[in-house]
Amino acid sequence: MFKSVKLFEFKEFGDERGKLTVIEGMRDIPFKIERIFYIYDSDNSIIRGKHANRESEFILVNICGSSKVRVTDGFQEKIYTLDRPNLGLYIPKLIWKDMYDFSTNSILICLASEKYNPNEYIRNYDEYLQEMKKIKC
Ligand code: TYD
Repeated sequence: MFKSVKLFEFKEFGDERGKLTVIEGMRDIPFKIERIFYIYDSDNSIIRGKHANRESEFILVNICGSSKVRVTDGFQEKIYTLDRPNLGLYIPKLIWKDMYDFSTNSILICLASEKYNPNEYIRNYDEYLQEMKKIKC
């Protein structure tokens, strides 16, 4: 499962006018984009996320500033730094994630494969661990 959390480096189209990066669903990322939300005005004392999703897959991009993302499947943990507008972190379903260490100007864009449904969120870490143990065994 851990193999599937991965960084995507999106193409930058650059010329004298500046740069442009495109993310197309099912072409640059492995899902159709159903929802976009963005996280901003969080400072470096804040931890967001703290949940896993049963259905949604995500691509996280710090289009401005930087933040860190800690991901775990309950067995292994990895920390990623997002600090470029063309760097995306793919998070498949059932991965626990924490976003933290936001720079003052951080804007973290999240592309999601599903519309918002609070019922597909697992927000209790112990419950998450129990569920992952069952899946692995
Ligand atoms: P929350 O899940 O706590 O954000 P994070 O993952 O960054 O910790 O969501 C914050 C609030 O925003 C909460 O009241 C639910 C609402 N929300 C939506 O209405 N739609 C969405 O797509 C998301 C992600 C959150």
